[in-house]
Amino acid sequence: MALLIVFLLFSAFPSLIFSIDIPIILPTKNVTVTGFTKLQLPVASTGSLAFDLLNEGPYTGTTDGRILKYISLIKSFQNFAYTSVNRTNAFCDGTTDIDKSPICGFPTGLGYNYISQKLYACDVAIGLTDVGPFGGLATTLVPTKNGVPYKLLLGLDVSTDGTVYFTDASTRYGPKEVNQSILTGDATGRLLKYDPITKNVTILLSKLAGAVGVASNFDASFLLVSEFTGRRIQKYWLKGEKAGTSEIFLTFPGNPNKIKRNQDGDFWIALNIPTNNSGVAPQGVKVSPCGQILATVDLSKEYNDNRRITVVQEQTGKLYVAGLNITFVGQYNIVKV
Ligand SMILES: *[C@@H]1O[C@H](CO)[C@@H](O)[C@H](O)[C@H]1NC(C)=O
Ligand SMILES: *[C@@H]1O[C@H](CO)[C@@H](O)[C@H](O)[C@H]1NC(C)=O
Ligand SMILES: *[C@@H]1O[C@H](CO)[C@@H](O)[C@H](O)[C@H]1NC(C)=O
Ligand SMILES: *[C@@H]1O[C@H](CO)[C@@H](O)[C@H](O)[C@H]1NC(C)=O
Ligand SMILES: *[C@@H]1O[C@H](CO)[C@@H](O)[C@H](O)[C@H]1NC(C)=O
Ligand SMILES: *[C@@H]1O[C@H](CO)[C@@H](O)[C@H](O)[C@H]1NC(C)=O
Repeated sequence: MALLIVFLLFSAFPSLIFSIDIPIILPTKNVTVTGFTKLQLPVASTGSLAFDLLNEGPYTGTTDGRILKYISLIKSFQNFAYTSVNRTNAFCDGTTDIDKSPICGFPTGLGYNYISQKLYACDVAIGLTDVGPFGGLATTLVPTKNGVPYKLLLGLDVSTDGTVYFTDASTRYGPKEVNQSILTGDATGRLLKYDPITKNVTILLSKLAGAVGVASNFDASFLLVSEFTGRRIQKYWLKGEKAGTSEIFLTFPGNPNKIKRNQDGDFWIALNIPTNNSGVAPQGVKVSPCGQILATVDLSKEYNDNRRITVVQEQTGKLYVAGLNITFVGQYNIVKV
């Protein structure tokens, strides 16, 4: 039933739809990762990650509607927050059933506001939410009920000026219709902006082919938005001469998923490249703000059972990897070559 899983994990059909030959750009530098550790979760992740002001975390959303925080002192995840007012532990704990999401919640995208110290989450069933530094029940900022106004909220980022950017992967297909979305090459996804002062939502870009991830740059002058089915990332200008316009930033021989900015201002993209035996080769791709591929990291040794990854995030010298329906967050040490 959990077809949302398929959307984030699936990459065979898009190669049929978009069978253009895209050159693979080789990195100028390679990054080696060592010391793989599984940070075990009590329930499957939704493939979302964030860290807070004190570099604590990771935080991750779970398929049973929780947001968990990793406490390094005790080396385990603890309950931090939840998105749905009607959620009960008895009904929800441990579920991977998307049908329960209207009651339990299903937080898919996380982003931290370093000024207000609020953690923002988009949830496919609940809408756009935020929660303070002590967690608990998140406040619903923009509700979505029965897929109105949003069908498939997946990507989220909070820019350094506090504006919240998020994506609706499709305006036609919900979490249980993801196959149709991919098979039809659906391009009805949108890039959205939430202004926390006016509480207004604005549409920045529409007609996106599977808008699953978004990240702003360090001075909030542009956004990157990934198109899973479209196999590319677009750059949307927020400031300057080109403000309000977009251009192709990168194209890929596979499906890009979430994008996360690191502390140097570069970006990490989770990429799943389809392989011959209908599996995938998961990679972390590091790019500069100009679109230069700085490094690629092959993650297929640790993610070798055709699991697709949805997010790769660099934080204080470590690389964290998560995927939908995966019951751990992977942690690596980064060795710069
Ligand atoms: C990085 O790795 C790729 C693939 O293994 C290789 O082709 C490329 O030459 C390497 N780049 C550098 C700068 O070492
Ligand atoms: C919570 O449950 C109540 C009672 O069934 C319902 O009226 C309300 O709409 C629900 N709230 C949300 C946000 O779904
Ligand atoms: C969706 O696609 C997956 C992967 O090909 C397949 O296993 C599943 O049966 C499909 N679901 C539907 C409802 O077509
Ligand atoms: C908020 O959005 C509404 C409807 O789109 C518009 O009428 C209003 O002027 C906006 N307010 C601000 C402060 O932008
Ligand atoms: C994939 O299959 C094609 C055709 O069978 C073959 O030419 C190619 O070498 C294969 N690629 C890999 C990476 O195995
Ligand atoms: C998600 O994981 C659970 C537990 O490992 C498994 O039973 C279920 O089939 C998975 N769902 C999908 C769609 O992969």
